[in-house]
This record gives sequence, C-alpha cells and structure tokens, in this order.
Amino acid sequence: MSTSEFGQLEVQILKDIAAAADVSSLDAVRVAALGKSGSVSALTAGIAKQPADQKKAYGAAVNAVKTAVQSAIDARKAVLDAAAVDARLASERADVTLPVRVGPLAEGRIHPVSQVFDEVAEIFADMGFSVAEGPDIETDDLNFTRLNIPPEHPARQEHDTFYLSPTGEGPRMLLRTHTSPVQIRTMMSQKPPIRIIAPGRVYRCDSDQTHTPMFHQIEGLVIDEATHMGHLKWCLEEFCKAFFEVDDVKMRFRASHFPFTEPSMEVDIDAAAIGKPGRWLEILGSGMVHPNVIRNCGLDPEKYQGFAFGMGLDRIAMLKYGIPDLRDMFSADLRWMRHYGFSALDLPTIAAGSAG
Ligand code: DAH
Repeated sequence: MSTSEFGQLEVQILKDIAAAADVSSLDAVRVAALGKSGSVSALTAGIAKQPADQKKAYGAAVNAVKTAVQSAIDARKAVLDAAAVDARLASERADVTLPVRVGPLAEGRIHPVSQVFDEVAEIFADMGFSVAEGPDIETDDLNFTRLNIPPEHPARQEHDTFYLSPTGEGPRMLLRTHTSPVQIRTMMSQKPPIRIIAPGRVYRCDSDQTHTPMFHQIEGLVIDEATHMGHLKWCLEEFCKAFFEVDDVKMRFRASHFPFTEPSMEVDIDAAAIGKPGRWLEILGSGMVHPNVIRNCGLDPEKYQGFAFGMGLDRIAMLKYGIPDLRDMFSADLRWMRHYGFSALDLPTIAAGSAG
C-alpha cells in the first residue's frame, strides 16, 4: 500500500471505532487494526520492503496512522467504560428509604439484654477493650478460690451457688455465680497489657421481684504496669456518660468489700441521668485487683496491677429503657418483646443506643 492510501485506511478504522457500541466490539476493532495480523500492523511489516530512501517517510506515515488509531481507541474506551458504570449504577439502584417488607425481619425483635450488651461493647471498644468469654459451667477453683475466696470463706455463702452433682472424676463443677472467673481465665492465658470486657449469664439460687436464678453480668478487667484508681474512675465515668447519653453524670464511689479487689468500691449514679433526680442508684461493683488474684494467675503483683468491675446487664437495661420488672425479661412473652424489644435494623451507635 502506498502512503497516499493510508488516509483512507485510517478514516475507515476511525469510523469503526466510533461505531463500536460496547467494549468487546471496540476490542475487535483494535485487534483488526493493531493486532498481530491487523491492517496497521501489516503496514509496519511493509517498512522493510521500501527502497532505502523512502523508508523513513514511509515509517513516519505508518506511525502517524498507528498513533491516531490508538488514541481514538483510548478515547472511545473511556466513553464506553463510563457508560457501563452508569448503566450498572442505574440497574443496581436501591431505594434505602423504602420501608422494610412485612415479614420475619420486620416482626423479629432484639432482646433488650442483647441490645444493651452491643451498646456496652461498642462503648468499651472505643476505649480499646476487647470481648472475652468463659463457660457457664465453671470449676470452684476459677469461680472462687483463685479470686481470693478460699474454701470456708464467708463470701461463698453469699452466692447461693448451684452445684452440679459430683461425677467422681475431676473437681465438682458449678454454675458460675458471676462473670469474674473470666478475669482469671484471661490473666492465665494472655500477657498484659490486658483490657477486656466479658459479658455472660450467671446463676444464683434466688428468685423474687428483683432476682432471677439466671441473670446477666458484664465484667471488666484492665491489667498493666502503671494502672491506678484514676484510670478506673475515668473509664467508668466515660462509660456512664456514653451509655446514658448525657454530657455529665454524677457518680458516687462508696467504699465496699469484695475479696478479689482492694480497695473495693460500689458505684452509684445520680438518677438524674435517667430522668429521676434526687435518687442514687447502685450500678456496679469495682476495685483495684487484689495482689493475691494477680499472683494466683501466675503474674507478679509487684510488676502488674489493674482494676476490675462487674455490672448487672439486666439492671442497666432496665434503668436505661424503663423496664419495671426483672422477671418479665426472661418470660419469653411476645407482647413484652414487641414493646421493649429493638428492631434488627436499629444498629446501636455510641451517640444513640437505640431508636426503639
Ligand atoms: N463479681 C461481683 C459480683 O458478682 C461483682 C464485681 C465486683 C466484679 C467488683 C468485679 C469487681 O470485677 O471488681 O457481685
């Protein structure tokens, strides 16, 4: 082909490019022109056959065609790609403002205890805590002894423990009376620094208006090399503000006694935080982890110390959401769930625990 005919070829290819309606037909045009046996590639192969004095001009003309074709393909590809994205966006469009379809998703409810646990976990996650777990069936050693409650200690009587029948093998098991054994499990299996919360079911042989034989607690544990009571107070204050969704919450730290902490404190909040000013409500037990407990887990109490707390999950759920009777929480009454439960689509956030 002589260089004077190049123009015609180029015009034809550019027409084909413009007519390509999608990426795959554009690719077919590219292969027909620039592919191994494409029309433009054939011109390139022709350079060698030209007389010496015409090689340069011929080569330049071939390159001009090649460049024009390549840039037309690139431009067309950009247009087709953008159109493909637009078409996909249009076809996958979802109206997120549509109401949920009637069905199980709209009917089902999250139990307030689960909801409140999610809220608590999110607040503590923000402070660097992770979630730890332990079994409901525990050994006496983890539930009591290593928590500085040796056999015959009077604190054992306070717990109204459910013991399992002895099997004749291994230690006698019990239903854990608190989530504190998860502190022991964590300290025995992880190296400090430790920052965990541990939610779970706990059991005590007790039943009246404010007690059920099974209830929920959430335990907190921080172990590090320079932890002090200021950290404990700050942490619990931040938690209460976030949980009750108030800018300020008045708290009272009352001296108390737990075998596994020294000093120990019970914490009350001014019920103004939940719209009932003038009353103090006890929400948790806490303290600096007793050196014996740290030693019982194989850590050196001269090097490590920390704080712990234990909170009734059901209790704080009742306070926050105005639930009057603890026993109703576990009666599996659908009408109760419809009233106090949470829609599965209400995700808890730090700023707003729920939307009801
Ligand atoms: N385990 C205690 C109970 O069930 C609650 C508690 C108090 C847990 C103080 C703690 C703590 O970690 O430091 O009554």
